Amino acid sequence: MDFNELIDRRNTASYKWDVGEGELPMWVADMDFRVAQCIFLALLKRTIHSVFGYNTVPDEWYDAYIRFWNKRHRFEMKREWLFFSTGVVPTISSAVRSLTEEGEGVIILTPVYNIFFNSIVNNRRTVVECPLLYSEGEFSIDWKALKEKMRDKNNTLLIFCNPHNPCGNIWSRRELKRLGHMAAEYGVTVISDEIHCDITEPGHSYIPFASVSEECAAVSVTCIAPTKCFNIAGMQTSAVCICDEALKKKVERGLNTDECAEPNSFAVPVTVAAFNEGVDWLNAMNKYVAENKELVRGFFEKYLPNVIISRGYATYLLWMDFSKLSDDTTLLCDDIRKKTGLILSPGAIFGANGKHFIRMNVAAPRSVVLDGLDRIAKYFGINTQK
Ligand SMILES: Cc1ncc(COP(=O)(O)O)c(C=O)c1O
Repeated sequence: MDFNELIDRRNTASYKWDVGEGELPMWVADMDFRVAQCIFLALLKRTIHSVFGYNTVPDEWYDAYIRFWNKRHRFEMKREWLFFSTGVVPTISSAVRSLTEEGEGVIILTPVYNIFFNSIVNNRRTVVECPLLYSEGEFSIDWKALKEKMRDKNNTLLIFCNPHNPCGNIWSRRELKRLGHMAAEYGVTVISDEIHCDITEPGHSYIPFASVSEECAAVSVTCIAPTKCFNIAGMQTSAVCICDEALKKKVERGLNTDECAEPNSFAVPVTVAAFNEGVDWLNAMNKYVAENKELVRGFFEKYLPNVIISRGYATYLLWMDFSKLSDDTTLLCDDIRKKTGLILSPGAIFGANGKHFIRMNVAAPRSVVLDGLDRIAKYFGINTQK
């Protein structure tokens, strides 16, 4: 495990790295690290087999999820709650179609992962933003506003991000319980997108929404996957966990209709390897990424103290409040790219007050992160040698 290793991803049809010469992408949410050895070996074994016909989902796939969540997150998933899907976004979009009618409102707590907007709008449902409360780097749920949105009979679904992309919040047991109670009271289903669940700083861990109470279990559609945490997003493999039988039937039927329920030849082996054998890699990655986050925080505290970095303990993304330096971070990011080649994500696409924020991905070798900071220093005319 050498997270300092520089791997050239240019000219590999990488979405993140398909950029200009000399540009440095710190935007799209994947990591520039080599995968765990166990994943590489599982892929190699499957490749050597050399027959790539249609696949089923074997027992070991269910066992891997059940064991991992039981051991790491103290959540005992039953086999019959779980089913395979080809990704979290396909699942969310399909569930939006299965669980709501055209025109109905789908609540999201903004700023949030921008693709949630697409899953709603592309299916002709209505985005109902419930902005998170914000003060000096801290985001929290606006319970009063959320209650109002849930009370509206037209809003029957909430897409929740646990932990939250982009601000990195790990929601507490109290918050999750309250959310589940409110959803049960008003008949709102909660899609809990838990794809970032295991990217947490040492000493911190997330709580599965469905594990918190019977109410949470009954209202939830949980999306989990090894893809974000083990850096295998290109493998298109995820799982859905639904405890309620009627809800499960609807979502599972929808995923089958949408042809998102069958694994490719690598989807199962990588999942099994990641969950059964990848824990040491995962813990080491989290330690390395936490150090990168500290490095960036230290830089901003010293040289650009007007930028406030949100205090979330999850994800490898830093959500930075530039409101004291810019009215519109889309323009700022464009200018930074033009003048230094550094590519960051402007926050407007995440909704609410996002246009004051910039998202930075620090899941990269330390020398790359330092290069990113150097470019920021140059852009703002900071001499870091002094
Ligand atoms: C919150 C969240 N959900 C889902 C995804 C993507 O999921 P998938 O690749 O399984 O469709 C991402 C990727 O950045 C994400 O941040």
